[in-house]
Amino acid sequence: MVTHPNNRITVLFVCLGNICRSPLAEAIFNDKVHKMGIGARFEADSCGTGDYHSGQQPDPRTIKVANKNGIAISHACRQLVTKDLDVFDFILAMDQSNLKNIAQRSNKQNHHKIFMMRYFDPQAKDADVPDPYYGDDRDFQEVYEILDRCISGFLRHLDEGVDK
Ligand code: 4NP
Repeated sequence: MVTHPNNRITVLFVCLGNICRSPLAEAIFNDKVHKMGIGARFEADSCGTGDYHSGQQPDPRTIKVANKNGIAISHACRQLVTKDLDVFDFILAMDQSNLKNIAQRSNKQNHHKIFMMRYFDPQAKDADVPDPYYGDDRDFQEVYEILDRCISGFLRHLDEGVDK
């Protein structure tokens, strides 16, 4: 486990556009660690493998589903850069396509940091988090529920492996 000088564990959530799945994951993660009283131990960020929406806030449907579930969300969209793979301790990909894109930029030293988000989902290990961009509010709620489960699973994984 590599921790940074300030001892924070850094987590990067990655999807394609960085306006739906990954900023929602970042917001859910921040909300959970804050409510658990362990927010100071982490730094979370999100980005996209694509560059379609750089600088934009999350999709209005992402904001809507976050707020509906009591989660505050604000993130300026950005694209993945190769340096992210050196800087972050955990890089969590929303689907196989994101994973492939990340892996193409990765060197051997960084491979162990890269996971499928649903590696941490007890209900559907390693499946994709479905892309809701062309969907409706129900698809966004489904993504919310998947991410909520995955992030709880990820925090359990850290709790088992990280010194307290
Ligand atoms: P995300 O969803 O990867 O979950 O942010 C998408 C957002 C935008 C696009 C595709 C997926 N797009 O093609 O613009």
